[in-house]
Amino acid sequence: MIKAVIFDLDGVLLSTDEYHYRAWKQLADREDIYFDRAINERLRGVSRMESLEIILERATKSYTAAEKEEMAGFKNDAYRQLLEHLTPSDVFPGVTEFIAGLQREGVRPGIGSSSKNTKYILEKVGLIEIFRGAISDGTNIVNSKPDPEVFIKAAEMMGIAPAECLVVEDAEAGVMAGKAAGMRVVGVGPAAGYPLADYQASGVAGIPWIALAV
Ligand code: BG6
Ligand code: MG
Repeated sequence: MIKAVIFDLDGVLLSTDEYHYRAWKQLADREDIYFDRAINERLRGVSRMESLEIILERATKSYTAAEKEEMAGFKNDAYRQLLEHLTPSDVFPGVTEFIAGLQREGVRPGIGSSSKNTKYILEKVGLIEIFRGAISDGTNIVNSKPDPEVFIKAAEMMGIAPAECLVVEDAEAGVMAGKAAGMRVVGVGPAAGYPLADYQASGVAGIPWIALAV
């Protein structure tokens, strides 16, 4: 029986994945580095610095560590500017109702995200209280997805065994992380076709209740 559902944030609860794309695009254009949406797909679930390294695969020169820090900072500033406009209406349809349904059934909602902006985003969209005490994010991990650390830490925060947790993910790296944590995983959006996922849904609102009952 599932006792906790651990949600990824970007691309699962709201479309901040699009803002990540736009902010990286600003940096890539500034540096004259080729970057497109196909490359952007490889950044899902991946930490900020690892994402930068993927983008720099197409660079024609090499960069110092200090230059990379500056680039990551530039991207994050551009991303934060886009996040400023977030409101509760940006949460995907049906998410709030789905979480309320979980709580009625005594199932704990948690967060497992690589993002260091997680708490800022949750505050902006009015979800911070629902997840309080169960937010594992880029600020409390050493290893990024596909390492299971972020989900293991979320389960520990809630005091619930990994085998009783269900992960909801839109990234291949995240599905792999959830499985490596010993959890059941629902793949949503781009991860819906990913064979390692136990269940598939177009989005949170479409998660089958059977995924919680086993
Ligand atoms: C993940 C996104 O949620 O967070 C990645 O899917 C992103 O694309 C990562 O790189 C880190 O985000 P942030 O907000 O710490 O730069
Ligand atoms: Mg995601």
